[in-house]
Amino acid sequence: MNKLVDSFGRKHTYLRISVTDRCNLRCQYCMPPEGLDWKKKSEILTYEEMLRIARVFVDLGIKKIRITGGEPLVRKDLDLFIKQISELPGIQTIAMTTNGVLLADKAQALKDAGLQALNISLDTLKEDRFKEITKRDDFQNVINGINAALDHGFSPLKVNVVLIKGFNDDEILDFIDYVKERPINIRFIEYMPFKDNHWSADGVCTYADTKALIETKHKLTALSLEEGAVAKDFAIADYAGTVSFVTSMTESFCASCNRLRLTADGSMKSCLFYPAELNLRDTLRAGISDEGLAKIIQDAVWQKPEAHPPAEEILADQNRAMISIGG
Ligand code: GTP
Ligand code: 5AD
Ligand code: SF4
Repeated sequence: MNKLVDSFGRKHTYLRISVTDRCNLRCQYCMPPEGLDWKKKSEILTYEEMLRIARVFVDLGIKKIRITGGEPLVRKDLDLFIKQISELPGIQTIAMTTNGVLLADKAQALKDAGLQALNISLDTLKEDRFKEITKRDDFQNVINGINAALDHGFSPLKVNVVLIKGFNDDEILDFIDYVKERPINIRFIEYMPFKDNHWSADGVCTYADTKALIETKHKLTALSLEEGAVAKDFAIADYAGTVSFVTSMTESFCASCNRLRLTADGSMKSCLFYPAELNLRDTLRAGISDEGLAKIIQDAVWQKPEAHPPAEEILADQNRAMISIGG
């Protein structure tokens, strides 16, 4: 029975665990341009601590775990941690969101450890533009990472494209062509506001506009929705790949939200956009029992807000930067 229920009756079956606050890229929409002070090692949960917290969550009804960052692959021995998570009784899906830079060399070990699904972030198919967005020269490494993910049969394999008007919206049809022969789900994500990420409403490419543009060239057919999904999925006629839209800004999906988050420094967040957090790390280090942990987690889930606030409020709030939440 699911024991992670909030006051609006939503059941939570999906936990996103951020394993590090660090990243090897510097995407402007994700982190402040001046960078962030990385947390000290002692502030970050050990794998042992993460595993203990994950076990409590799984006992309460979590079925799917997504590993996030920062960039998860910059943390050492991630495959060993994934193996331990995948052995928790009751877990059905282990997924990861990565920028792909380090993936090519690690794909085999991750697969062997039990990782099933991969979401890879790539906002452009142009090498020079990649450098502009990420401030790093890793375009070819990411492409190699995607190819390795295809070779190793991760499924589903999704590529996340955050669209920003005037910046990469001229590549929408190129991305569709990218999945002509590749069994990849390409996902266009509406640009979301976070503290100091230069967001403005004018920069958002809306779901409606992006879909209409694609439909000038392709026939899209709606696919059935995954439970609690943040994306609307479509088949593309005659293409191996599919296309989806993550519509956080124009059609929010809070009413069916089934997600909880654990940050790398050990706080639980019940909503991506609310600053409210529960510090599990310090309670754990002070010696709380598993039953005690379960109780404070359940209390915090019960407090989860009904929906995220409007964009102006999100920008004014003292929420973390996207990079230290993990998406
Ligand atoms: P799936 O498990 O494949 O559904 O992955 P996902 O889309 O939840 O995860 P991913 O890490 O690939 O994130 C893609 C986009 O969805 C990012 O922009 C995330 O910030 C956004 N996203 C993920 N979860 C939430 C959420 O609970 N609320 C909102 N508003 N956006 C979210
Ligand atoms: N708006 C939308 N998506 C974002 N991501 C990072 N910052 C933002 C933002 N401001 C995406 C990344 C990655 C996922 C975890 O979140 O591109 O794919
Ligand atoms: Fe790193 Fe991903 Fe944030 Fe880019 S979006 S800075 S790759 S965590």
